[in-house]
Amino acid sequence: MGVNNYINQIIEGNCVEVMKNFETDSIDLTITSPPYDNLRNYKGYEFPFEQIAQELFRITKSGGVVVWVVGDATINGSETGTSFKQALYFKDIGFNLHDTMVFKKRNPIPQIYRKRYNNEFEYMFVFSKGIVKTHNPIMIDCMHAGLELNGTTYKNYSKNEQTREKLAKPVKNKKIKGNIWEYVVGKKQEDQEAKGHPAPFPCELARDHIYSWTNKDDIVLDPMCGSGTTCKVAGELGRKYIGIDISQEYCELARERIKNIEMQMQLILE
Ligand SMILES: C[S@@+](CC[C@H](N)C(=O)[O-])C[C@H]1O[C@@H](n2cnc3c(N)ncnc32)[C@H](O)[C@@H]1O
Repeated sequence: MGVNNYINQIIEGNCVEVMKNFETDSIDLTITSPPYDNLRNYKGYEFPFEQIAQELFRITKSGGVVVWVVGDATINGSETGTSFKQALYFKDIGFNLHDTMVFKKRNPIPQIYRKRYNNEFEYMFVFSKGIVKTHNPIMIDCMHAGLELNGTTYKNYSKNEQTREKLAKPVKNKKIKGNIWEYVVGKKQEDQEAKGHPAPFPCELARDHIYSWTNKDDIVLDPMCGSGTTCKVAGELGRKYIGIDISQEYCELARERIKNIEMQMQLILE
């Protein structure tokens, strides 16, 4: 059984066991969000983190990327720090920590005051197997486009020493987006379809990562796909997808969402 037998399917099972059937160096991009510190009661819960990370390293192509969307529980007044421990483990087994990005929620769940500020973000750790092979950067408008400033200061991360250089006079029209991405959670029609699941991430988040780190026909995996958000968006963007979830109920929900996009694509073609 190779990866080709799973293309454009939602597979029910423990992702460690399913991923064992994939060839080494076979996946371009993984986007996934693991269960956080038992925060939610997933059906059929079993989460062997270290084995999952090791399998992801084996099956990721050279230059491929894993986006790990995660937050921490607060237990007895202290955040668990699990997300950091997981990020360091990914580094220990050979991944580069390419970028620590933030998923900021425009409509965070209000919390009861416990001498702390309202939590309104999760991490999006971007790991790569070697140097990233594909980056289609999302561009945004420059606030001071056209202004004749004294020169704009840039940090050059390509060199080992992170020197600052003065370039670009006048200021350019567009620049590469920053690494804090902001989304409304659960309100758009495309996200409402996932409401049978307790913790879907927004379609827009998946869309921005898939666009950034893959090209058409690349293979996108979500080994804990829940309501199938990653797979739905990957299909819409002309990427191949594989979704895995341990829960039969969530697999059915994911298949239902994907059936909708297949029907929409069919209508567009007719
Ligand atoms: C945070 S949710 C993912 C939500 C998903 N990103 C979405 O947009 O719907 C985590 C999922 O991991 C699944 N899960 C937990 N352990 C698993 C395992 N060992 N193998 C596969 N899926 C697992 C749970 O059933 C749950 O649906």
